[in-house]
Amino acid sequence: MNLVLMGLPGAGKGTQAERIVEKYNIPHISTGDMFRAAIKDGTELGLKAKSFMDKGELVPDEVTIGIVRGRLSKDDCKQGFLLDGFPRTVPQAEALEQILTELDKLIDYVINIDVNQEILLERLTGRRICKNCGATYHLVFNPPREDNTCDKCGGELYQRADDNAETVGTRLQVNIEQSKPLLDFYQEKGYLRNIDGQQEINKVFADIEELLGGLR
Ligand code: AP5
Ligand code: ZN
Repeated sequence: MNLVLMGLPGAGKGTQAERIVEKYNIPHISTGDMFRAAIKDGTELGLKAKSFMDKGELVPDEVTIGIVRGRLSKDDCKQGFLLDGFPRTVPQAEALEQILTELDKLIDYVINIDVNQEILLERLTGRRICKNCGATYHLVFNPPREDNTCDKCGGELYQRADDNAETVGTRLQVNIEQSKPLLDFYQEKGYLRNIDGQQEINKVFADIEELLGGLR
């Protein structure tokens, strides 16, 4: 199962990705998570990515494409993969086609989690993440334990550096601009499937499961 998960910041990509990779046993490839890990480790890649991420801008295509190429070539992607947050521009989508051709793979679906812009700000500013296992919560929509710890592992929660109101504004603007041509690109190729992301988290997942059921 070779999947791409698209959606504006806060649409629920990470939340649904957690559930999809657990059920279908495929690796979760999130470019955002890869950049955050590189920043934490203080690598050269992290240094490059940080200046863009802090402003809410996209990391340059050549950097992003390079890390995805390396990741998709690993053995654990042989049985499938879930790309989350990549591609985000048409040049990235074209590069992905090239990479997959080289690896003799095809995309099954590009799943677009569709959510109205107005509610994304509230979703992002209320998001909290477990430091230990990476689980995603929302203070109102998907609350953690009462003492603000992770209900899966008891870990402490933190707020992402780019989840402040100012950076969120830039992230939304940048991603809205890029997403329309990308959606058209995948619509034309027949890969695109839209999922209503404004429903409750479990209902969004049920719709994705129904879609993926057709692949088995
Ligand atoms: P990335 O980490 O990918 O962030 P993003 O795209 O901004 O998306 P988010 O992770 O913020 O949102 P999400 O859709 O995963 O939502 P979540 O499930 O957490 O990228 C970060 C940065 O890295 C970019 O700005 C860029 O600089 C760089 N980058 C990454 N990829 C790149 C690329 N390909 N090219 C260039 N640069 C790149 O949900 C959000 C909140 O809502 C949570 O609190 C959750 O609990 C809640 N929630 C989720 N679903 C629901 C629901 N159905 N109802 C109510 N609440 C919900
Ligand atoms: Zn946890």
